[in-house]
Amino acid sequence: MKYNFDLVPNRRNTNCFKWDLFPADRLPLWVADMDFEVCPKIIEAIQKRLTHPVFGYAMESPEFKQVFCERMEKRYGWKVNPDEIILIPGIVSGFNFAVRAFSGNDNSVIYQTPAYPPFIEAPGNFNIEGIANNLYYDENEKIWKIDFDRFEEQIKDNTSLFILCSPHNPVGRVFTREELTRLGEICLKHGVKICSDEIHCEILYKGAKHTPIASISKELSDNTITFMAPSKTFNIPGLACSVAVVQNPELRNQFKKSLQGLGSFVSILSMEAGLAAYRDCDDWLNELLSYLEGNRDFAQEYIHQHMPSVKQNKIDATFLMWLDCAALPIEGSPSEFFAQNAHVQLNDGKTFGVGFEKFVRLNFGTNRATLEMALENMKKALDAKE
Ligand SMILES: Cc1ncc(COP(=O)(O)O)c(C=O)c1O
Repeated sequence: MKYNFDLVPNRRNTNCFKWDLFPADRLPLWVADMDFEVCPKIIEAIQKRLTHPVFGYAMESPEFKQVFCERMEKRYGWKVNPDEIILIPGIVSGFNFAVRAFSGNDNSVIYQTPAYPPFIEAPGNFNIEGIANNLYYDENEKIWKIDFDRFEEQIKDNTSLFILCSPHNPVGRVFTREELTRLGEICLKHGVKICSDEIHCEILYKGAKHTPIASISKELSDNTITFMAPSKTFNIPGLACSVAVVQNPELRNQFKKSLQGLGSFVSILSMEAGLAAYRDCDDWLNELLSYLEGNRDFAQEYIHQHMPSVKQNKIDATFLMWLDCAALPIEGSPSEFFAQNAHVQLNDGKTFGVGFEKFVRLNFGTNRATLEMALENMKKALDAKE
């Protein structure tokens, strides 16, 4: 290994959302932010730009767009043109702009739960109705699946947009081409546009293959706005450099209009970082993925051995675990229990939708020692309860 992911910097007292928000005795395994040092090539690229002492307004970097398009072609055989790309500072703002662009007050927006909490908030931000379509758990395959009939039934005449999370946070699913095609066809049939958040598409484990929904057919690309970013993949989420791909010129114009006066520039330094990430850091990414896969296997085995009542699904993507704690002898919120008794901060399942109050989300994007300590603390807290 060229990079040592066991060594992580101390992030406390750096205005770090993950480490500084909660009391200092708590191990933070919550927000989807990893603790690893970034690839040195990213730092070099920022340092190089710092040698020019003016930091004015940036235009969208043609080189970044070109490198992104080449990446799409190489990874997915998906042909994207640089002029079909809009750079945005973040994907949460991106899908909020998409809701604004493609929905009016009398529309509704559908998403799948458990859901990344800002999906649930997005329609409400514009006084638009949100429809929660539940995934269901397949005990045999140990994966969360789509109930297509229910999805279609829940679409209303006024539903304008489907916010898709692919790969899925928090359940770690990489949807198959067949599943995505079927979802896409239902949306086309009912005139529902697709906003596909694919931020986790490069955190994939052995055997998993991501398909951008827009790459499946011309009809789907014409009906979809796709969001991707180097942020999760290369651990630069605080630098805020993300991409919207809108291949249909009409939708692209609508989306651009929704940014007017509100959408801000991607900063000059973050574009340099994003460019270096996509262009120069794949060796780092490959090593990161094997480290994360080791963390996933370690954590799943630990939980299986020492906290067998916690139910866990198969994880093919993301550095997140979605843990069903319903069978634990805990009254109230499991996340609150672990925060108070194990000093481990997890995400509370209730923020991912109704019916998920007994779940927690655990972020294993940290060094093995921290992960091990957090799991041991959780086990001890449970042992003390019994
Ligand atoms: C599905 C998903 N979308 C978007 C984001 C955040 O994107 P950004 O930081 O670009 O707004 C996250 C972060 O956890 C996420 O999991």
